[in-house]
Amino acid sequence: MADISLNDLLPVSACYTPEGSLTIARQELAKLAKQFGTPLYVYDGQTIRHQIASLQEAIGHFYQGSSEITYAAKAYFSLGFARRLADQGIGVDVVSLGELKIARQAGFSPLRVHLHGNNKSEDELVTALKWGVQAIVVDSLEELGFLSQLAEKLQLKGRVWLRITPGITVDTHHYTQTAHSASKFGLPVQDGQAAEAIRQLAHHPWLTMTGLHTHLGSQFFEAEPYREAVARLTELAENTGIIPQEFSPGGGWGVPYTQDGKSNDPQPWIETVAVAVEQKFNRRGWPLPRLVVEPGRWIVARAGLAIYTIGTSKTANDGTQFLAVDGGLADNVRPALYQAQYTALPLQKSEGKPVRKVTLVGKFCETGDILIPEVYLPPLQRGDLLAVPVAGAYQLSMSSNYNLAARPAVLWLEEGQVEVLQAREKAEESAWWTGK
Ligand code: LLP
Repeated sequence: MADISLNDLLPVSACYTPEGSLTIARQELAKLAKQFGTPLYVYDGQTIRHQIASLQEAIGHFYQGSSEITYAAKAYFSLGFARRLADQGIGVDVVSLGELKIARQAGFSPLRVHLHGNNKSEDELVTALKWGVQAIVVDSLEELGFLSQLAEKLQLKGRVWLRITPGITVDTHHYTQTAHSASKFGLPVQDGQAAEAIRQLAHHPWLTMTGLHTHLGSQFFEAEPYREAVARLTELAENTGIIPQEFSPGGGWGVPYTQDGKSNDPQPWIETVAVAVEQKFNRRGWPLPRLVVEPGRWIVARAGLAIYTIGTSKTANDGTQFLAVDGGLADNVRPALYQAQYTALPLQKSEGKPVRKVTLVGKFCETGDILIPEVYLPPLQRGDLLAVPVAGAYQLSMSSNYNLAARPAVLWLEEGQVEVLQAREKAEESAWWTGK
């Protein structure tokens, strides 16, 4: 197990004022909480650039061919955020009309956009065809037929990748495994569906197959399944007589959420993928493909911090000490859905103060609205501020209006600059439940 410190979980620009108040990008979070209210989510621009740069460095070091990093927008996306990522020169993987439109508005070149999804709508496919995205990632034989009809009807040519399901199970929560034989995603290899799709695309008048893709799952730390996936996809290519120009073994590499978590190091992932692709292609005398890696969480998780205000504290009949915050399940469903683990820390440094074990809960009407079942915190009371680190991926993008909760404000922080990515929803004005 890696030695993870609290600093490894916080954004890279995290610091304390001389008075012990936590800052990100030299901005005092307690002041931002006062100005914008809580729950509040902040993203540290420096951490996102740092993550992208470390990945670029690792890929440059291990892979001889050309490559691209595409960000999986489902981890978190909003217009301001997308613009910042587009400025970094990376690509984006989108899965809905909303994400497609935001990517376009944010200035991503269509040649850096991939459209994924197991059930893309006609609107999504047509928008992607018209925009000329780098690849529509075909997920099934039925979808291939539907897309062919649309392309013909519109008289538009399109580039496609095939999402392959190699029958590999990675070590992560069952809900985030995506390439096993019972997955709803992709074209299975074993029963010949993947080969059949390749056959249908061989002399297609409208669609050109440019790449093979697989995504094994999310939040895992073993590199071996990537090697196995590269082997199975290149075997498939060889057996069907194609040479992929682009090759995408997806995203999925994990990040630590607590000090018991595993390392932040992307090396085992990138090295394994790069070496496997080079070996498998070189051995067959094929030119190296453009390697496309597709992380979501790895780029944004650590950059995000959730800030809550403490409300009620109470002791249950069995002695459990509850501390309740003003958010929870509606802005972070991950603990309830995946038993995801987190840690928490007060915004005001409390060194030397005794800590006690508490159960950190949210304010929503669900017994399962438990953010952290056991966390050691100094004495905190109503009005104190608390941060939950590693809050940048899949929290806000999966957030809800449960109990008609208003979604939190989201800020992008740079030194001397605060950009509001999302304004706090106003309960009384929400179009969603007032019908306006
Ligand atoms: N590529 C494809 C095709 C994907 O489906 C995903 C994630 C990614 C890339 C990026 O995976 P990442 O690098 O972020 O692990 N809601 C879950 C995670 C679901 C991921 C879905 N697909 C969670 O909160 O853990």
